[in-house]
Amino acid sequence: MRVQDAVNVEDVRRLARRRLPRVVFDALAGGAGDEVSLRRNRTAFDRIEFRPRPLADVATRDLSTTVFGERLSMPIMLAPTGASRLARSSAELAVARAAARADVVYMQSTVAAFPLEDVAAASAGTLWYQLYLPPDRAELGDLLRRIAAAGYRALAITIDTPVLGNRERDTRNRLMNRPPHPRTLLQGAGKPAWAADFVRGKVDYLRGQLGAGRAASPAGAASPTPLSLDQTRATITSSSDCITWSDVERIRSLWEGPLLLKGLMRGDECDRLVELGVDGVVVSNHGGRQLDGVPATIDILPEVVDAAAGRLAVFLDGGVRRGNDVAKALALGAAGVFVGRPYLYGLAAGGEAGVLRVIELLRAEFDRAMALLGAATVADLDRSLVSGARIPAIPSPSTP
Ligand SMILES: Cc1cc2nc3c(=O)[nH]c(=O)nc-3n(C[C@H](O)[C@H](O)[C@H](O)COP(=O)(O)O)c2cc1C
Repeated sequence: MRVQDAVNVEDVRRLARRRLPRVVFDALAGGAGDEVSLRRNRTAFDRIEFRPRPLADVATRDLSTTVFGERLSMPIMLAPTGASRLARSSAELAVARAAARADVVYMQSTVAAFPLEDVAAASAGTLWYQLYLPPDRAELGDLLRRIAAAGYRALAITIDTPVLGNRERDTRNRLMNRPPHPRTLLQGAGKPAWAADFVRGKVDYLRGQLGAGRAASPAGAASPTPLSLDQTRATITSSSDCITWSDVERIRSLWEGPLLLKGLMRGDECDRLVELGVDGVVVSNHGGRQLDGVPATIDILPEVVDAAAGRLAVFLDGGVRRGNDVAKALALGAAGVFVGRPYLYGLAAGGEAGVLRVIELLRAEFDRAMALLGAATVADLDRSLVSGARIPAIPSPSTP
């Protein structure tokens, strides 16, 4: 099967699994610990049921929405993923191009194979930036200025990564062994198309180093070269250590555009975030890759939406594999959703065209779900259209 013939994201996942060495597929698909939260993200979506509204005029549908004052073609966006070069050497460049062609937002990770300016130059679309703090916080101002100058519209600080999650598949597969474990090399050799692309990426990297001689940023964001996995791990563990409220305050004072926190899993911090001038949150458990045992994101979404009470834009990621999942999240109050692994599978299976295929599959499913639900516009998606969700009880009026 070619990626163009995939009829859903699961087909694309199977194609990716076929093309990637096991160690790489596991690094993308796996979660932390027993992968309880990874599984929950999916099963919780399946538990929610639709209650379609009959006889609505849905002959034409409008999937567009407005986020931070900007019109988006639909509320599906691409999440930041630091290891996209493992899927394919064109990595963020291919993802950014596909996102621009499909007119969806791409949030680029700090842990990237290409400089943030190059990714911006490759894309005429809307880009957001996901921030891990540089180990030397004195360099934060410069990094934020570069992000703004390159045209990234919004900034998201990831707050669920004080240390790296316990990814046991990666430990078992000896992903971080240097030199690579013989079994890793054998697995790579067994997937010649992937291996050839990986080597090509390395060669381009060396050429780039010899040629341009650009300086790498402390956070790896400006690295002209693909980061190795140990660099990636080192970047995350050293740079995101202990992001605290004062960091958020500082970033708020330095960044003029919309500011989001990514990785919130409870509603009771929303007042404080609003006071700090934060504009939005992503309800996220990092795709089940950080603290195993946290709830599914779709189960926490209503709590955060209610606590935000319209003062923060609330997004969700984790386990979105169908346009129907998007409709469920929007019905429960999300301003939009992000997908991570689905587009990584597309990238692995077919490069830019594979990412585009995943976006178009999700768009078509979301459009169909809206029609069948009786929703002609995104604003028509409300809680009456779903049942079985974990809606927090309305607090009883407090007695004086
Ligand atoms: C391989 C991989 C790498 C990731 N890297 C990052 C990252 O660098 N920064 C970040 O904030 N989130 C990262 N994430 C988490 C995603 O942004 C997102 O929260 C998650 O993938 C959503 O779940 P889904 O994959 O089920 O759609 C990564 C996820 C994966 C699968």
